[in-house]
Amino acid sequence: MAEASPEASESSERPAPDAGIPEQAVGDPTALAGASETDEGAAPGPTPACDFWDALYTRRSVRKFEKEPIPRELVRQVLHAGIWAPSSCNYQMWDFVAVDDPAVNAELARLSAQMGNAPVNVVVAYGRDFSEEGWANVQSASAAIQNMSLAAHVLGLGTFWITQMGDREKVRAVVGLPEDRLVVAVLALGKPKGEPRKGPKRRPLAQVAHFNHYAGRPIPSSANPADWAADLLATYQRARVLNGLRHNKPRAWEVAALRAALDELVPEGRDADAGKALRWLDVLPCTGIVTAEVNRARPAFAIDVVERTREVAEFAAQRTVPHGRTFGWPTSSALPAPPESAYAVVSCFYRLENLPEAARGELVQAMARWVKPGGRVVIAYVNRHSFHDLTEWLRERRGGPGGVEYVLAPDPNIGPFESLEPRAVETLCAQSGLTITARLGLQPVPSREEIEFRTRNFSKRHRRLSASIAWVLGVLGRFPGLATRRGRFQYVVAER
Ligand SMILES: Cc1cc2nc3c(=O)[nH]c(=O)nc-3n(C[C@H](O)[C@H](O)[C@H](O)COP(=O)(O)O)c2cc1C
Repeated sequence: MAEASPEASESSERPAPDAGIPEQAVGDPTALAGASETDEGAAPGPTPACDFWDALYTRRSVRKFEKEPIPRELVRQVLHAGIWAPSSCNYQMWDFVAVDDPAVNAELARLSAQMGNAPVNVVVAYGRDFSEEGWANVQSASAAIQNMSLAAHVLGLGTFWITQMGDREKVRAVVGLPEDRLVVAVLALGKPKGEPRKGPKRRPLAQVAHFNHYAGRPIPSSANPADWAADLLATYQRARVLNGLRHNKPRAWEVAALRAALDELVPEGRDADAGKALRWLDVLPCTGIVTAEVNRARPAFAIDVVERTREVAEFAAQRTVPHGRTFGWPTSSALPAPPESAYAVVSCFYRLENLPEAARGELVQAMARWVKPGGRVVIAYVNRHSFHDLTEWLRERRGGPGGVEYVLAPDPNIGPFESLEPRAVETLCAQSGLTITARLGLQPVPSREEIEFRTRNFSKRHRRLSASIAWVLGVLGRFPGLATRRGRFQYVVAER
């Protein structure tokens, strides 16, 4: 990446971009802004040379920034790149408000924590009533944002694009934009802290690009497992896991539930000194979050994983110490099948919910083959007879992400998802020749602080409603009998 030093800019200065500006480009905006022609066309800051493809490949969203302020000359240069974007009808109805006053940024951060990261937040707005057809206003503003992101990168700065800004009308009011301006996004801008992460991979060109006629099979926009072919689910999960899934951190209350379940259902294997004498197979671990927790909680087990693709299997296996062996399911996968009758424990945590009904049966049958006689199959699943479906419905109702968008986002729900009937799970076990020897239901509830944080952008009414639901769920969790029947997380242990 080129350095943004003044020396670099002097030695590599390219012709000012106003040379040869088409006539229609200089007219309107200059008049509207009351600026001179030179202001509009010439670069206000350094324009370091940088290979286009290099800039394209090395730009990354940066979310950690140095605190130091950014010289306005550099900020102006970034904004200048914005005005060189195309816009619908060449209206150029964008406005950029670069906030570098810490007090104003603090006000923005109160609306969304995302605006509390960078020394500069560029609020990008567009004339609300211009180019509404086909959302061309949003598209024009987006083109400007992408120009600014690339320019910032070439100038040695980092950016990240913020849509989750809370109430955009409040953002507009904080920076004093008039009502007829639509705030499209905010671009956080600053000097990156630390080395850029390795870039998330891109979906292969062959999957997304077509000539003349679309010839692909799209990832379904449906949260219903029945709508997903097995290979599309494999492709989707591979992309989510490898392309930098953000929701790949365990939530404290879910980890606590897992530990409580293990203590009751798999009490052995806590002794790290015992070596890796016992073998555990974790089935469809996806991000491997749960696998890593099992690894920490039961160090006497060597944990292998079985996944749909080699890449996801390797990703999950790398979260265990030592790294587990990798196997494939279904059998068409490029990986070998796990050995039969080999494992003391075969577990599947919240993955049956991803599968259509027939595939659930096939998977439980395969698990019954992989476990050794006298070993245990442990299945964790989300209970249909719990508050799960209601709380998901509420989340959607309050205008938050819902349906496929939400379901596909957080772990463990990576892919289509539907909660399961306890009786259906018991039938699956029986049909696979497994006898259920233990059951446990738990109702983990986030702490009050966590709930307050997660609902901070809700309306007052929905915040209160969420807190009440959490209270009810907490009470429910204190009665083991109720939690067993109504708890969101259900666990069954079955033996061959
Ligand atoms: C329209 C759009 C909205 C985005 N909104 C957010 C956001 O609200 N918060 C965030 O952290 N990142 C946001 N991003 C950044 C993406 O997460 C990021 O571009 C993506 O993960 C790819 O990573 P890369 O930019 O490093 O290539 C957004 C990106 C786009 C294009």
